[in-house]
Amino acid sequence: MAAESFRACWIEKDGASLQMELKQVPFEELATGEEYVRVKVDYSGVNYKDGMAICGIYGVVETLPLITGIDFAGTVDETKAGFKKGDRVIMTGYEMGQKFHGGHAEYASVKAAWLVPLPEGLSPIDAMTIGTAGFTAALCIKALEDSGFDKSKPILVTGADGGVGSVAVYLLAQKGATEIVPALSTDSKALDEQRWGGAIDVVGGPTIPTICSQMAYGCTLATCGVAGGPAIKTTVYPFIIRGVKLYGVDSVFASTEDRKLAWSDLAKVPPEVWREMRKEVALDDLQEVATQILAGKIRGRVVVNLALKGPQLAKAEVEQEDVEALKQQCLSLRKSLTATSK
Ligand SMILES: NC(=O)c1ccc[n+]([C@@H]2O[C@H](COP(=O)([O-])OP(=O)(O)OC[C@H]3O[C@@H](n4cnc5c(N)ncnc54)[C@H](OP(=O)(O)O)[C@@H]3O)[C@@H](O)[C@H]2O)c1
Repeated sequence: MAAESFRACWIEKDGASLQMELKQVPFEELATGEEYVRVKVDYSGVNYKDGMAICGIYGVVETLPLITGIDFAGTVDETKAGFKKGDRVIMTGYEMGQKFHGGHAEYASVKAAWLVPLPEGLSPIDAMTIGTAGFTAALCIKALEDSGFDKSKPILVTGADGGVGSVAVYLLAQKGATEIVPALSTDSKALDEQRWGGAIDVVGGPTIPTICSQMAYGCTLATCGVAGGPAIKTTVYPFIIRGVKLYGVDSVFASTEDRKLAWSDLAKVPPEVWREMRKEVALDDLQEVATQILAGKIRGRVVVNLALKGPQLAKAEVEQEDVEALKQQCLSLRKSLTATSK
C-alpha cells in the first residue's frame, strides 16, 4: 500500500511562540493543481533563514503551519507539467519554506516553472552544498559580468569565509580574476583611491559606502546581503563622477534564464571543492543545526540527507542567551521594516 504520510520539519503556532516538531505529515498537506509537481527530496540545505524559522523567530515565516526549508534537490515523483518521473531537479527561493511548504521533508510539491533541471555533471548533494548561498554567489558574478567589471584589477569580496562569499571567491578565480581581496576597512572619503575592478558585498550598510568610494571608474558593486545591517549612508559622487554601478542581487525571484545560467556555471566546478565544504546531517539534527547557525557556530554548508535516520551531529556548546538576543534583534528589525513600508 502506498504511504499516506511523509516525515517533515513542521512548525506551528503555540500561543505567542512558534513550535518546531519532526512529524509524519499527510500527503494532502502538499499543494495540488495542474502546475504543481511532486518531488521526492533527496537533499536539502540549512540556511540562516531556516535557522530563524526552526528556532521560532517570526522574521521569515509568513504562513503557519509550515514545513521549513528554502532549498532542495530531488527526484520528480510523477510525470506531469513538462517533467517525467525520475527527472532530477533543483528548487531554490520563490518564498518556499516561508510562505509555502519547503524542503525539510521527504516530499515537496512545487510549481513546475520554479524547478531547474539538475545540470549534467552536478550531483544532488553537490547542488545542495552550493544551495541558495552558492547560487546567489553565481548571480553576483553574472551581475558583474552584465554590468561591467575589470578582472585585471583586484576584486573585493566581503564575508569571504561565509556561504555566499566563499563560492564567489572560487568562481571569480575560475573566471580569471587575478587578485581577490577579502578584507576591508570601513572608514573612507566620499571619493577614495580607485582600487576595485569589481566587488561582491554580503555585509550591507557598514561596508557599502567605503566600497563605492573605492570602486574603479565604470565598475560594479553587486550587493546581496545584510550580514552587518541594512542602513546605507553615502554620497552620490561615486555614481555621478565615476559611473560606479550598484547592482542589487536577489535569488528568490531570479528569472528562469538566470537560474539555468548560474547552475550551469556552478556545475563546472570540480566536485572535490563542494565535498570539502559540507557536513551531512539528518532531519533529526535540524534543531541543533539551526541553533548553531544562529549562534554563528557553523562553518561551511550543512546538507540534510533525507535518507539518513537518527541524529548525526554532536551537540555544540551554544549560549541560549545568544539565540534569545538574536530573536530580539530580528523582532525590532521586523518592526522597523513594517513601520517603513506603511
Ligand atoms: N539576496 C539574496 O537573494 C541572498 C541570498 C543568500 C544570502 N543572502 C544574504 O547574504 C548574506 C550572507 O549570507 P551567507 O550565507 O554567506 O552567510 P554566512 O555564511 O553566515 O556568512 C556571513 C559572512 O559575513 C561576515 N560578516 C557578518 N557580519 C559582518 C559584519 N558586521 N562585518 C563584516 N563581515 C561580517 C561573516 O564573517 P564572520 O564569519 O567573521 O562573522 C561571514 O564571512 C546574508 O545577509 C544573507 O541573508 C542574500
